[in-house]
Amino acid sequence: MEPLSLDRRRILLGVTGGIAAYKTAELVRRLRVAGAEVQVVMTEAATRFITPLTLQALSGRPVRTELWDTAAEAAMGHIELARWAERILVAPASADFLAKLRAGRADDLLTTLCLAADAPTAVAPAMNRCMWEHPATRENVAALQVRGVQVWGPDRGSQACGETGPGRMLEAAELHRCVIEWLQPGPLSGVDLLITAGPTREAIDPVRFLSNRSSGKMGYAVARAAAEAGATVTLVSGPCALEPPSKVKLVRVESASEMYTAVMDRAVEQAIFIGAAAVADYAPAASRPEKIKKDARTMRLELVKTPDILAAVAALEKRPFTVGFAAETDHLKQHARAKLERKGLDMIAANQVGGGLGFEAEENRLWVLWPEGERHLPTTSKLELARQLLALIVERYEAKNSVQDSR
Ligand code: PMT
Repeated sequence: MEPLSLDRRRILLGVTGGIAAYKTAELVRRLRVAGAEVQVVMTEAATRFITPLTLQALSGRPVRTELWDTAAEAAMGHIELARWAERILVAPASADFLAKLRAGRADDLLTTLCLAADAPTAVAPAMNRCMWEHPATRENVAALQVRGVQVWGPDRGSQACGETGPGRMLEAAELHRCVIEWLQPGPLSGVDLLITAGPTREAIDPVRFLSNRSSGKMGYAVARAAAEAGATVTLVSGPCALEPPSKVKLVRVESASEMYTAVMDRAVEQAIFIGAAAVADYAPAASRPEKIKKDARTMRLELVKTPDILAAVAALEKRPFTVGFAAETDHLKQHARAKLERKGLDMIAANQVGGGLGFEAEENRLWVLWPEGERHLPTTSKLELARQLLALIVERYEAKNSVQDSR
């Protein structure tokens, strides 16, 4: 009996062309023994290294190789297969496959499935050390990681080509362990988490508004990281061009007052609230019903303060663990700690903004502060940073709960 069961977990195992494909047979056997349902999909090149019959016998399912296989499509079409998969693991993943995955190619069954599926995906690269170290492969791998693809390995050592270096696929036992870890319930499973993201728009008249540079990237990345950690995530988003992460409930709003209502309607049911939105601090006192004519040489716009959503959540009697963001151009930590204290927050994530930092950028860095401590999270992609921030939130959230439980 395996210590951790993969009982009926549905794993789509892609196999691409490489000598390491022989290790996949042992991986399939281990996953099956642990109780997983394994559907193997092979590229044409993979079938030159190991026969579909071997993997069919071990997986107990017909191996799929062709996009245009009418009999197999009649049994389970490729889109259905993409939906069936809870997880996709490609092992071995060749340099060519990684390049195709990065480019979004769909010229065979495996790449088509990867493009059509929204299941979390992992790859176990295997290739010659020069191919692995080539800038093209480095860029492809980095881009895939930014998109959330997990990269397991490769290992270093002697290679089938006779050279020594990085590029060996991880052993089946190691990949099996990675899959088990991957399928464990996340630290936030069963936890309701509400997050705001993006800018707000404050109408001046039917065609004009006041807004800011927020793209939503940081907040959407945090929403995605929270869903990955198992939370039930509701994302209240101002207008932005991003697709919501999978398994995240999206509530679209436009203005600060709409965002306030959407948040306050839900806040008491939440365990965690994260305010990552760049909410307008002021809005026009009145939005004109008709388009303002440009006859006057100057015009004055009267602005009134918008409701402070974050402070309102933190002031609730039955409040969630409340995390704010602080966007600062100067005295970052000092201003952020003042906001943490003034708004009565559990935690604040402070980022330097302006001059290409914070807003709109692909990468970011944070100082995360809480009443008793602080941690610096250095520059990385917003998704990776969001995962690190989430790990800190989990740590502080659990610490706060354990103190409350012991009272
Ligand atoms: O969206 P991106 O382009 O990826 O950029 C990311 C980001 C820079 C917008 C993000 O990382 C960020 O810093 N978000 C908070 C921006 C902000 O409004 O900061 P602030 O210091 O002005 O506000 C402090 C906190 O109060 C924030 O949590 C904000 O959501 C909240 N607030 C502010 C005003 C208001 N009326 N209601 C609020 O809830």
